[in-house]
Amino acid sequence: MLQMHKRKCFTILSICAILLIGVAATTKDEKPKPNLKVLPKNIDHEELMKIMKGFNVSLGVKCNFCHAQSKTEQRKLDFASDEKETKQVARSMMKMTAKINKKYFNFNKEEEGKSFAVTCKTCHNGKEHPDSRIVLPEE
Ligand code: HEC
Ligand code: HEC
Repeated sequence: MLQMHKRKCFTILSICAILLIGVAATTKDEKPKPNLKVLPKNIDHEELMKIMKGFNVSLGVKCNFCHAQSKTEQRKLDFASDEKETKQVARSMMKMTAKINKKYFNFNKEEEGKSFAVTCKTCHNGKEHPDSRIVLPEE
């Protein structure tokens, strides 16, 4: 039960963070990550990990679903690499999700802490691929 609650908080936090895309980056002294194209380049590590773990939960995957194997170190992932198609798709999904909330649910970045209408989980609900088929009931 507690676990469930924690997970929920996780997801919500992650989504909040996603929606803060474009907001002035945090002031913590982090080494900038040059391969962030959607999130702020100097986002602090903790924040970034919350978002990433939120992706895992929302899609029911592990980090290697989007992140490619390192070419130099075995059993490590090369997080900066854009080799995987899924990572590229994820970037556009992040932009889409932020846009849906802003445009259709009137989310305003000044209203921090507000809960968000649409998250990765809304559609994915723990699956890599949301099931979009419409099966009509038999007559
Ligand atoms: C659904 C796809 C997806 C999953 C799953 C995922 N990530 Fe990511 N990750 C991304 C995307 C997309 C970016 C780049 C975001 C951007 O461009 O702003 C990223 C960026 C990163 C970065 C920054 C890399 C850099 O230096 O540019 C790190 C570190 C990272 N992820 C770690 C993780 C970890 C650890 C996990 C598992 C807990 C994980 N990710 C799971 C999609 C994913
Ligand atoms: C409005 C619904 C919706 C939202 C919100 C959404 N997705 Fe998706 N996503 C989809 C659909 C539908 C597909 C399948 C597209 C296809 O079949 O080509 C998909 C596919 C993907 C894929 C490709 C999976 C594969 O197997 O290739 C990734 C990665 C992904 N989404 C990540 C995310 C992430 C990360 C978020 C949150 C930032 C997110 N999505 C939010 C609807 C959504």
